[in-house]
Amino acid sequence: MRQEDFQPNAPGQIVQSTLGYWTFLPTPLPPSLNYNTRLVSLLSEADRALGELAGAGRMLPNPHLLIRPFLRREAVLSSRIEGTITQLDELFLFEAEPDHLSHPSDAAEVRNYVIALEHGLSAVRADNPFNLQLLREVHRVLLSGVRGAEKRPGEIRDRGVRIGGATLEDARFVPPCHTALRPLLDDFVQFLREERSLPIVVQLALMHYQFETIHPFNDGNGRVGRLLITLMLFERRVLPQPLLYLSAFFEKNRQEYYDRLLDVSRRSAWEEWIEFFARGVAEQSQDAIIRTSRLLDLSQQYRKEVAGEVKTAAALLLVDELFSSPYITINRACEAINVPFKTASTIVSKLEKMGILREITGQQRYRVYRADRIFELLEQPIAP
Ligand SMILES: Nc1ncnc2c1ncn2[C@@H]1O[C@H](COP(=O)(O)OP(=O)(O)O)[C@@H](O)[C@H]1O
Ligand SMILES: [Mg+2]
Repeated sequence: MRQEDFQPNAPGQIVQSTLGYWTFLPTPLPPSLNYNTRLVSLLSEADRALGELAGAGRMLPNPHLLIRPFLRREAVLSSRIEGTITQLDELFLFEAEPDHLSHPSDAAEVRNYVIALEHGLSAVRADNPFNLQLLREVHRVLLSGVRGAEKRPGEIRDRGVRIGGATLEDARFVPPCHTALRPLLDDFVQFLREERSLPIVVQLALMHYQFETIHPFNDGNGRVGRLLITLMLFERRVLPQPLLYLSAFFEKNRQEYYDRLLDVSRRSAWEEWIEFFARGVAEQSQDAIIRTSRLLDLSQQYRKEVAGEVKTAAALLLVDELFSSPYITINRACEAINVPFKTASTIVSKLEKMGILREITGQQRYRVYRADRIFELLEQPIAP
């Protein structure tokens, strides 16, 4: 990292480490912002979309059903940004039948993301105020069982890290020295806990920039920082359920995402970063609104069809369950709808005959059924 790439108005100091390379020491949030007309109009568009999504969320008969797959979609996409390539179907399969099928080696890491996010959400739900311990706990879960002791699950960084480039000297960006992290994190947590006056989209954008710039862990900072967006949205009660996820947008615009972050550090380009972030909120809210409404339509159609064919309430329960877990085994079906194995097996066969489920392993044992159309609605991109 070169000193001369940073302008005098940069929101931090360029500090030389004891080893000689340069690092960026960010100033605590919030910066002063220039609310130009473009920024204001993008912010209000994002707000409108968020409001619409909140409304759509309140209309859902069983919002908890959709949270589960949405959260998994986020886990896959957030992990993909830095190269973990497990697909959504592989994650569902891993969760449906972890022991008897072979899975990609990074499926467990994506699964960790799900557990870490659920863990964070339940802490927030229990009204635990944000604190450093919670961030470390989320990180610990995210990286638990992952190879590489240098990753230090749950521990703050103990070395220099770089972003882009092969060495600390020629990196695009070098976050602050690990010895400087403590006060930075204290200020960051205070912002998370106390900042309520700025527009929510601004709060989120500032928070995410600051977290990534501090880069408190040896690895996993991108994922923890994106996970914090969901936690903060939920904690601020902007949405009744965690239905908004931004990783699809960041993944689609990855280079711009990185460049905008860097431009804040280099020349205080806050407005451009917040505009980019607001676009993401608007697009992903729209995506979630359309996706939930398509899923809701399909659910009503399936409920009607199944009520006509299979005269048991348990069958309808299983149909609902498929919207939450579109990959299912008979054992999981038993647990989910609380019926004996034989009943679950009969219902699954009926749903298979109706074309709602399809057996995908081709095996006699450890069979897994997939609800193709539900899965496709979760997976497929939605045209803007
Ligand atoms: N110029 C930058 N300044 C601050 N953060 C950045 C910059 N460029 C990229 N990032 C963030 O760094 C993350 C990568 O950090 P890393 O610790 O490897 O996270 P992970 O292992 O979760 O992918 C990116 O996903 C992005 O969020
Ligand atoms: Mg990484």
